[in-house]
Amino acid sequence: MGKLRSEINVKEWEQLPWYDLLSKMGLESFNWRGLETWNELMNIHKFPPKSKILIVGCGVGKSAFYLAEKFDLNVTGIDIAEKSIEIAKQTATGKNLEDKVKFQISDAHELPFHKNEFDGVFTEYMAYFLDHPRAFKEFHRVLKPSGYVAFNELMLESDIPKKKLNQILEAGTLFEEIAGFKLNVPFISDYEKWCTEFNFKDIQVHFVKKKLNLRDLFQLVGGFKNFRKITKIMLYLWRKSPIIKKKFKIQRKVKWIVFQKRSTAKYIRPTICIAQKGD
Ligand SMILES: C[S@@+](CC[C@H](N)C(=O)[O-])C[C@H]1O[C@@H](n2cnc3c(N)ncnc32)[C@H](O)[C@@H]1O
Repeated sequence: MGKLRSEINVKEWEQLPWYDLLSKMGLESFNWRGLETWNELMNIHKFPPKSKILIVGCGVGKSAFYLAEKFDLNVTGIDIAEKSIEIAKQTATGKNLEDKVKFQISDAHELPFHKNEFDGVFTEYMAYFLDHPRAFKEFHRVLKPSGYVAFNELMLESDIPKKKLNQILEAGTLFEEIAGFKLNVPFISDYEKWCTEFNFKDIQVHFVKKKLNLRDLFQLVGGFKNFRKITKIMLYLWRKSPIIKKKFKIQRKVKWIVFQKRSTAKYIRPTICIAQKGD
């Protein structure tokens, strides 16, 4: 811990927005079913090599690199989290992929791109934060004619009992205290509705087949060595900062309802929804 004491300026960490804090700790991904979910998307629709893809809410860019390296796609990642984008850019330099994978800070609701620029617009574990009408309009605008929007997301099943839905909604509201925005998991039918409303066609919904395993869990945290580093930093911040400790506690509660507590989590399905831009 002595080394951490000299390395970590607790006050600085307390100022970081939630996702920047997690990225700085070393977390690399939030997709609980792992990178292979992109293989499932590519099985539904094969984006040809060199396709221009926008990943909205890309975090530190793990999926952006995966898509570029495995499928030879040209990827742009955007996120509002400044530290995450800084880390993503450093990784691109380290991997010598700056020409193929680009990152910039920007908001999903006001994309800094021209109309008809991308062959695909993807989201991953972030669309529950969006103002959907505004975002859908933007996704439609920046897509080329006949381009595809794809949501690799958690979505709610329609048969959820009211009481369970309320628990999830409460957890989502609680999340606002740490992230500054609510976590508002939409129904599968909401995606279908928004796609239709915002002029997308051929909507396909696919339940993610890939199950979570230990290997994926370590992938989320960037390997075992990184996992140990993250745990150490977390414990240190937990002990030294009541502000961050409170955030971790809230996160634990929200995670419990959304991912772990069977009676609520079973209604939240990792799902891919893909649709083609209409005329
Ligand atoms: C749960 S993380 C997911 C990160 C990454 N997609 C992944 O699956 O690992 C959600 C991300 O969405 C970003 N985000 C939230 N609202 C956003 C917005 N309006 N525009 C762009 N990014 C946003 C957050 O900063 C965060 O990096």
